[in-house]
Amino acid sequence: MINWRYETWVREFEAERERRGAVGDPLWSLGAALDPALVRSLRKFQVGEDGDGSALIGKAERAGDPVYAGAVRLFVAEEQNHARMLALLLAAGGSGTLSGHWSDAVFVRLRRLMGLRMELLVLMVAEVVALRYYRAVRDGAADPLASEVAGRILADEERHVPFHCRRLREGFAGLPAPARRAVAGGWRILLAGAAALVAVDHGPALRHLGVRRRAFVAETVRLSAPLAASFTSAPARTPTGV
Ligand SMILES: [Fe+2]
Ligand SMILES: [Fe+2]
Repeated sequence: MINWRYETWVREFEAERERRGAVGDPLWSLGAALDPALVRSLRKFQVGEDGDGSALIGKAERAGDPVYAGAVRLFVAEEQNHARMLALLLAAGGSGTLSGHWSDAVFVRLRRLMGLRMELLVLMVAEVVALRYYRAVRDGAADPLASEVAGRILADEERHVPFHCRRLREGFAGLPAPARRAVAGGWRILLAGAAALVAVDHGPALRHLGVRRRAFVAETVRLSAPLAASFTSAPARTPTGV
């Protein structure tokens, strides 16, 4: 039997949960002065982060590796923490959350129709767009609370991406090289499309953060090249630890 070595990820997620508990929350009582364009943008990302993750957990459980399923449960808890922190940030700025957003509803429905591998591919689109977005908020927001929350979320997303990459690499290991190349190409096109949609939809917030739309798309697409290569590259015969 292949040793998936997801114990390492479980330990990492658990250590992070402990660290989070020890550090505690940002000081919400400081309040936040948020630009209206940033509020509109953060509210949409808050909806995207929110969700019980039960469909993904179910698929991970059916994949037959209980350690991996445990890691996915911890991953989902981190995403829920992102939604919680964004809601508290919005509240600190005197704003509420959205009850839902059409793009999120479409995204969730699409993912439900897919198997684990396809769901992770689509999820990875959101994770990589999030990498560039939260970096923009962390570095560009004038409000210290907004910058801190974005920095914390970004640090988590930077761990999520290699976690999904690893599972995807194993998922695509059985495909012949041309099929893996097609997956990589298709995924990068999907990512470029999603980055363009976000750049248009969140353009005013990005402008406020000092990031041009075109640069946002270009930098997200640039990020995607090594990632696509890593999860569709020829697999090692015996996967080792991270
Ligand atoms: Fe997230
Ligand atoms: Fe994430």
